[in-house]
Amino acid sequence: MLDGNRGSSFSRRKFGQSLGAVLAGAYISPKLFQGVTGGRLKGFSRADAILINSNENPYGPSPHAIAAITGSEAVACRYPDDLYGRAISSIAQLHGVDRENVILGCGSTEILRVCDATFVGSSKQLVVAEPTFEAVTYYAKVCRANAVKIPLTSDFRHDLPAMARASASNTGLVYVCNPNNPTATINTRAEFADFLAQIPPSVYVLVDEAYFHFVEDPRYASVVDMIPQHPNLIVTRTFSKVYGMAGMRLGYAIAQKQTIQAMHRELLFDNGNTAVLSAAVASIADPEIVPTNKKRLNDTRKWVTAELTKSGYRVIPSQANFFMVDAGGDVTPVIKAFHDRKIIVGRKFPSMGNWLRVSVGKPEEMQKFLAAFREIVPAPQKFAAA
Ligand SMILES: Cc1ncc(COP(=O)(O)O)c(C=O)c1O
Repeated sequence: MLDGNRGSSFSRRKFGQSLGAVLAGAYISPKLFQGVTGGRLKGFSRADAILINSNENPYGPSPHAIAAITGSEAVACRYPDDLYGRAISSIAQLHGVDRENVILGCGSTEILRVCDATFVGSSKQLVVAEPTFEAVTYYAKVCRANAVKIPLTSDFRHDLPAMARASASNTGLVYVCNPNNPTATINTRAEFADFLAQIPPSVYVLVDEAYFHFVEDPRYASVVDMIPQHPNLIVTRTFSKVYGMAGMRLGYAIAQKQTIQAMHRELLFDNGNTAVLSAAVASIADPEIVPTNKKRLNDTRKWVTAELTKSGYRVIPSQANFFMVDAGGDVTPVIKAFHDRKIIVGRKFPSMGNWLRVSVGKPEEMQKFLAAFREIVPAPQKFAAA
């Protein structure tokens, strides 16, 4: 257990002031911050809304995880040392790696922040796709690092050869989100092998596999097994998606031991709580949770995207629990129109400003989404002719 920072007299007000200074110094717009953390609802509560905006899993945790959370009551008054170790062991066993190859984060968001804090800064840039999940770019700005944004290919996938070309010696970190958020597209294992061969050993590569479990394309595979050959490779996963635990905050990374050690310096002490660590161990031990959630969410996604396609809308083929559909014009009023119907859809991604990102909810929620979409977005033949 690490006791070093307990009982800090650093007040919330001072923290707020310092954060304000950091954000102002790094020119972080409140809008970007809100984009990462989620916006507020006007005139109704989240309980009354259909929430298909944050790629969550509406089915929630495994029943075994719920039982483990309840069972953790007896040790809730203790620091989570024992469970922390058990969660690391379960994850290590799941991936066939040593415990020293694993680091836990308060959600994989903490892993992204830790990677920025460890590997980028004013003299070491970040290379990312545009658009992709913004948290890594956000925290790079907090670290005063430049982010080089490489547009996606014409089929909305990471342009790995262009990202490799951009990864010069002044690059600290390359972030590859696979499947990519927001496009739900993938890069293949063969593409990754070529890409990693081109990256200088001094440049770290962070592969975000948050949506790994949903992929069905046989050309896709995790790159965890490439870590032994690549000391600069880090793979991150989360319990927020297929495991249905977004509200509980647990993610992790796997990398070579020295890399994990370097990342530890930037990690919050005791960053996992007893309830979530127990739930993670129980979820990993549950053989049903991943196939069950994968099937029901993928089935719903296939049905709803087929309906949209039949009606003539353009949908980017998805390999995850969300998809993008062409709204035929700026999505800002479309998002508002959904909000007015108490349906919360994904935020706007400015470089794909006509594309709406939709998370897959339960079938009855997606029925309502479909009906609303047909009302809000003009029939495709109309905007095709315009
Ligand atoms: C690609 C990607 N990575 C990481 C995260 C963060 O997930 P969490 O911090 O809940 O693990 C998200 C959340 O939506 C995501 O889409």
